Order: sequence, then structure tokens, then C-alpha cells
Amino acid sequence: MNEADLLRRLQQANEKYGFVDNRDLSAAVEGEYAIIDGGHVPKIRPASLADLAFATQLDYVLQEIEKQMPGTIEQLGGHDEVVAVDLGCGTMPYAGSLMTVLASINGSIVLYGVDNNPEAIEDFYKGRNSNIGVTAKEGDIEKLHEIMAGYEKDTVELLFLFNPSPKIPFPELKKINSSLTEHAILIGSADGVTYNSPGHYMDGLRANNYRIIVMAHNPFGEMLNTGYWWSPKSFTTLNFSPWFVAVPEAA
Ligand SMILES: C[S@@+](CC[C@H](N)C(=O)[O-])C[C@H]1O[C@@H](n2cnc3c(N)ncnc32)[C@H](O)[C@@H]1O
Repeated sequence: MNEADLLRRLQQANEKYGFVDNRDLSAAVEGEYAIIDGGHVPKIRPASLADLAFATQLDYVLQEIEKQMPGTIEQLGGHDEVVAVDLGCGTMPYAGSLMTVLASINGSIVLYGVDNNPEAIEDFYKGRNSNIGVTAKEGDIEKLHEIMAGYEKDTVELLFLFNPSPKIPFPELKKINSSLTEHAILIGSADGVTYNSPGHYMDGLRANNYRIIVMAHNPFGEMLNTGYWWSPKSFTTLNFSPWFVAVPEAA
């Protein structure tokens, strides 16, 4: 895909979700916002550009899901309530962007984040996520059924799993009670820049009886840097690529 196509995708998503001032979008495309210069960040992009990049890729992936399983996303739109859980949410820098795209599918989507690191949960609420209606829960991914036990609804429709295991084994998703997630669609990404390789992610999904239905390179990886979302201090080289969509294999 050439640069003109990528720009067109960003512009289309921006028209739909409206994250970025058009001047910022042009400036970014014309290279006025530097990305990485010898490990330093000379100019910081507005966080909204990272939001837009994330939403553009998610929008594309949702279209790919529709191609593979026609009607799936439309059906989610018809549910009274849709429950989405971000597994290993960390500080969830993409929460605002994710919520915006999800709300366009169904206005009653409820988004939770789960992480077993209490500091990550604390930082989650210190950042931009404090007032966008996302709830973070401390707990283990593998015990999601226990974490969700107190909620009225006993199914989760969407699971997210971004950059889950840079230095630790892939989470054992098969330990989650299957009735909770048996109809869920999992969307997430590896991160080829650190230790979280695409192969590791694919093996992890397969070992947990998930069938991969979409694998999509993320051409906006450089725009998706936590430093742009939070602050230069938290700058880390993530690229959120490639993205995967997977569904649990019927037992
Ligand atoms: C590299 S971070 C990614 C955070 C976020 N998804 C992102 O992309 O910015 C991985 C996160 O997964 C969490 N994590 C790893 N294994 C977990 C488990 N079994 N249960 C809950 N959280 C877990 C870690 O605490 C960490 O915050």
C-alpha cells in the first residue's frame, strides 16, 4: 500500500471518528512531526494522531472481520449490551480511541480492562482514561470468569489483547471458563519491535485453541507510540503490528 492510500485511510477514519484537526493531519503527513531521532523525540505529535492511527487500523480490521464472517459486526450493533474486555490492559493508552470506534458499533458497549499489575491499574486512572467510562480491574487474565462473576451479563463479546507478553509466556486463555468467551471475537496485536514477536503471538493463540481468521500488518505502527499518547518520559518503541483476529475453536 503506497503513501497516498495510507493517507486516504487516515482521512476517511478521521472523517468518521473526528480525532484530529486537519492541520495536524497534514503536518504529520508532510513530516513536520518527527518520529524518532536517535532515540530522542524532538517534536511530539498530538496524542490525537496516535488515536487516529489506532482507530484507522481497528476500522480496517473490523472490515476484514466482516469479510470473513459477514454480519458479525452488524449483529453486535443489535445487542442490548456488548461487553468488551482488554486483557493485560496496562495503562491502556488506546482506551479513548478504542471506545470511540466501539461506540460507533453499539452505543451500549461496556469496556473493561484487566491487569494483574496494581501499578498499571493506578496509572491507568491517572492518565487520559480517567473519565471516558472505561473500568480497569486488577486481576489475572486467566481468571477472567472470576473477575466478571459479579456482573449481570455472563458473556463477553469482544476480547482485546495488545502486546501481551514481551518477556513472559503468552497468557493461558484456555483457563478462562469457556462459557464466558465461547462466542467472543479476539482482536489484538503483537509487537515486532520488542520481544513480542508475531510468531510468539500466533503460537500463543493456537496453543489456547483460538483460530486466527485475520492477520493484518499495521502500516501506522510508527504513529502508535506510547510516548505520543502519554508523555515523552514513557516513550517506548512499540509498533502494534501485526494485528490478529481470532475466535475460540468449538470444544
Ligand atoms: C506490554 S504490557 C501491554 C499493555 C497494553 N495492552 C498496551 O498495549 O499498551 C502487558 C500487560 O499485560 C499484563 N499481564 C501479563 N500477564 C497477565 C496476566 N496473566 N493477567 C493480567 N495481566 C497480565 C502486564 O501486567 C502488562 O501490564
